[in-house]
Amino acid sequence: MNDAACHRFDGKTLLATGAARGIGRAVAARLVAEGAHVVLADIDGDTAEDAAAAINGARGAAGRAEAAALDVTDEAATRSLIDQIAATRGRLDGLFANAAILDISPLETLRLNRFREVVAVNMESVLISALAAAPLIAGSGGGAILATASIMGQVGSVESIPYSTAKGGVINMVRCLACELADQGIVVNGLAPGFIDTRMARLADGGHEHETAYFREVYLKYGKIPMRRPGQPEDLAGPAAFLLSSDAAYVTGQILTVDGGVTATF
Ligand SMILES: NC(=O)c1ccc[n+]([C@@H]2O[C@H](COP(=O)([O-])OP(=O)(O)OC[C@H]3O[C@@H](n4cnc5c(N)ncnc54)[C@H](O)[C@@H]3O)[C@@H](O)[C@H]2O)c1
Repeated sequence: MNDAACHRFDGKTLLATGAARGIGRAVAARLVAEGAHVVLADIDGDTAEDAAAAINGARGAAGRAEAAALDVTDEAATRSLIDQIAATRGRLDGLFANAAILDISPLETLRLNRFREVVAVNMESVLISALAAAPLIAGSGGGAILATASIMGQVGSVESIPYSTAKGGVINMVRCLACELADQGIVVNGLAPGFIDTRMARLADGGHEHETAYFREVYLKYGKIPMRRPGQPEDLAGPAAFLLSSDAAYVTGQILTVDGGVTATF
């Protein structure tokens, strides 16, 4: 059940990246349900258009979604999108820096150019969008920046040097940005999802990681996920909306882990 009826985001404008599908889309839908005008920015502009139309068509959509095509690694394009939001909406109250790509790189095949690509999409993009958005958010009376990290940024694992390093970087970037932007009335936090049932969780062969024998055995049967199910994108909606809302006005530099208990185990 959600408490969208409270409309915490009436009159607010937010930018959400990587919002064409998965977690970004689910969070954007919640923000719109709570009254926000949300710009769904994604490298896949067509799917972002479809997502915005679906969100606007949903019952109880108190706000409005609009789509924008954006590659989050493109600093000029990001700045131009923020300028466009300033021109059309006159304000920006929050940024959800969520776009990312998955990478599974066994050590033997790990290449530096791939490492750099993953770091650019998953980590540098957070800095690009935060720096571009901060002046407009500050000029709108303050607000929130939320970046999607991962539990993979909190622990080490095999085959994950690019992705986990980038996500670990996001976590400490969040803490640093929180210190830098506090004086401007901007809180900065991170979301660390666990295993979430999105396209990112698909394996190279198209199968789903949650359906493998290993996942069923270790994570579900033996309780490595104490809640014994992968998360759904909607499981992130409430936590993300909270951290982007004025309810979290005194919460900054924090990482909220939403993983069904994975990191509560060892
Ligand atoms: N699914 C999981 O299990 C899981 C776990 C931990 C963290 N996360 C994080 O959650 C966030 C959302 O992932 P998801 O699971 O919804 O995956 P997803 O693949 O469904 O969504 C990612 C979105 O980002 C977009 N994107 C990719 N590169 C982009 C770019 N350069 N510019 C703009 N948009 C781009 C994609 O088009 C897609 O719409 C990511 O930061 C991901 O790392 C996911």
